[in-house]
Amino acid sequence: MNALAKELNEIIAKENPVVLDMLSDLGKNLFMPKGIVTQSAEAKEKAHKYNVTIGIATDKDGPMFLDSVYQCFTDMKPADIFPYAPSSGKPELRKRWKEKIADDTPSLNAGFSLPVVTNALTHGLKIVSDMFMNKGDTLVLPNMFWGNYRLTFSVIGGAEIATYNTFNEQGGFDVDALLDKCRESAQINGKITVILNFPNNPSGYSPTNS
Ligand SMILES: Cc1ncc(COP(=O)(O)O)c(C=O)c1O
Repeated sequence: MNALAKELNEIIAKENPVVLDMLSDLGKNLFMPKGIVTQSAEAKEKAHKYNVTIGIATDKDGPMFLDSVYQCFTDMKPADIFPYAPSSGKPELRKRWKEKIADDTPSLNAGFSLPVVTNALTHGLKIVSDMFMNKGDTLVLPNMFWGNYRLTFSVIGGAEIATYNTFNEQGGFDVDALLDKCRESAQINGKITVILNFPNNPSGYSPTNS
């Protein structure tokens, strides 16, 4: 295992060993290479004339660009358009988003890290599959589920999908069926992943408190 990945796993284990247990083999092996990040930081300090470390060129006014391209974006500053975006998203956006999640759902006050920007939901789900599920792990879903889960988690990721009845006889979400399926699936290798997708696709249903 790469030394940086090992170091990250040690940090996670210290903060919360359960989270380390949740990671897939791939999730445990991932790391952010230090090279380019370190070089960019160094250039920020020492490159006073041009900084071309990350594939863009800057001069004293900021990023260099073609006027013909900038014409399409005149309501935005060049510094917000032309440089590479950080791979996890802009820090100020991530911070604001975290604040919004905390405001909208105060019960999450147990603490969570800065959200990561993804290319829409499907990309986020694929990252979850890669980071948290090994081939053969079980994904628990209601029997009414968005079809692309099969492609993302099962066809690509090799997960086993276990489904439970979506609605009980009263027309509410079948919580008992969910719990039974979780208990049953947890017997297989001691680990399950559950997606709670609300509003549910295809039914549009969202559970109520009672
Ligand atoms: C439950 C569910 N998840 C994900 C998606 C896809 O979202 P995105 O286009 O943001 O990847 C859809 C789209 O219909 C959906 O219904």
